[in-house]
Amino acid sequence: MPLESKSISTFAGALALLAVVTLAAFFAIVPDAWRRTSNLFYYANQGYQPAQPLDYNHKLHAGQRKIPCLYCHAGIDRGSKGVLPSLEVCMNCHAAIPTRDRPKLKQLVSWYNQGTPVEWTKVHDLPDFVRFNHRQHLAAGVVCQTCHGPIQEMNVVQQWAPLTMGWCVNCHRDSTATGHHNAPTTCQTCHY
Ligand code: HEC
Ligand code: HEC
Ligand code: HEC
Ligand code: HEC
Ligand code: HEC
Repeated sequence: MPLESKSISTFAGALALLAVVTLAAFFAIVPDAWRRTSNLFYYANQGYQPAQPLDYNHKLHAGQRKIPCLYCHAGIDRGSKGVLPSLEVCMNCHAAIPTRDRPKLKQLVSWYNQGTPVEWTKVHDLPDFVRFNHRQHLAAGVVCQTCHGPIQEMNVVQQWAPLTMGWCVNCHRDSTATGHHNAPTTCQTCHY
């Protein structure tokens, strides 16, 4: 092996060793480092605000027009999953609202007439190994905004809470936050 490439590979080896040592030190010294990095890669979704295929605005409907959350998210208080409204629910009102010169409303009505279902992009999405149900929370009197923020002021929905394990567990521990007795914090409460 010529001298030059040997010294290059020694240098590369030293660099690799340094990287391993630094990484090990990082996980040893920084508190909670593993959770922080795994959150960084898998779950740093706070503020996530995807574009939606069809225009819909909570500020206008739930805010200005004061349409109740459960009018469109019916069944969520009984624990139904994935409760987003179909276009039939929109058409309860929009069948009677003029669409002239309103391209967004034209699109809504034409999708409805064609029978095209809307594939809304999911905003909140817990990992599959987490057990969560709206039913117990709403029954305990926790309001939507405690976990979703001021939805009635949002033009486009965003993930307002971090949805990390710490966020769930802190509230379960803190009875004063909910005015309820401590919610359970054993691992099996939230993990299958
Ligand atoms: C007129 C119907 C309507 C009303 C009223 C309504 N919503 Fe929605 N909501 C929707 C639609 C449609 C979507 C899916 C599109 C989007 O994300 O904007 C949605 C999405 C959401 C999402 C995000 C779901 C996800 O993908 O994770 C949350 C949270 C939510 N609504 C909460 C509320 C709350 C809280 C209220 C009351 C303050 C409310 N909504 C009132 C129609 C409605
Ligand atoms: C309870 C009645 C009601 C329901 C249900 C409802 N809307 Fe509306 N929507 C309205 C009213 C009222 C307006 C304002 C109309 C106007 O400005 O003339 C409106 C306006 C809109 C606009 C126009 C916004 C703009 O900036 O031009 C869109 C788009 C829209 N709605 C989409 C939806 C969708 C999608 C759904 C179903 C998820 C829905 N609406 C359900 C009452 C409703
Ligand atoms: C204790 C916190 C909490 C409260 C209170 C809460 N939500 Fe949620 N919501 C969540 C979490 C966490 C998710 C994500 C669930 C998942 O990914 O499995 C979610 C998801 C949703 C979704 C997406 C569809 C679904 O079922 O996954 C909608 C719509 C929604 N919430 C609406 C509401 C409305 C409306 C209220 C009030 C009536 C409400 N939420 C109250 C935490 C909460
Ligand atoms: C704002 C406070 C709050 C937050 C945030 C919260 N919870 Fe809860 N949780 C409660 C309360 C209050 C109860 C009801 C306890 C009772 O019935 O006495 C509950 C009950 C539950 C239950 C049912 C427990 C049982 O066996 O009765 C599960 C499961 C659960 N929560 C999971 C979660 C998960 C997962 C998250 C995070 C994604 C979460 N919670 C976030 C307050 C909260
Ligand atoms: C109140 C609900 C709740 C309880 C109780 C709970 N967890 Fe979690 N856990 C979550 C949620 C939500 C996530 C996903 C979000 C995240 O990774 O922070 C999670 C993620 C995890 C992860 C994945 C690590 C990561 O950072 O991605 C592990 C491992 C875990 N939990 C173990 C446990 C153990 C062990 C216990 C009991 C000491 C426990 N959990 C109790 C809600 C809970």
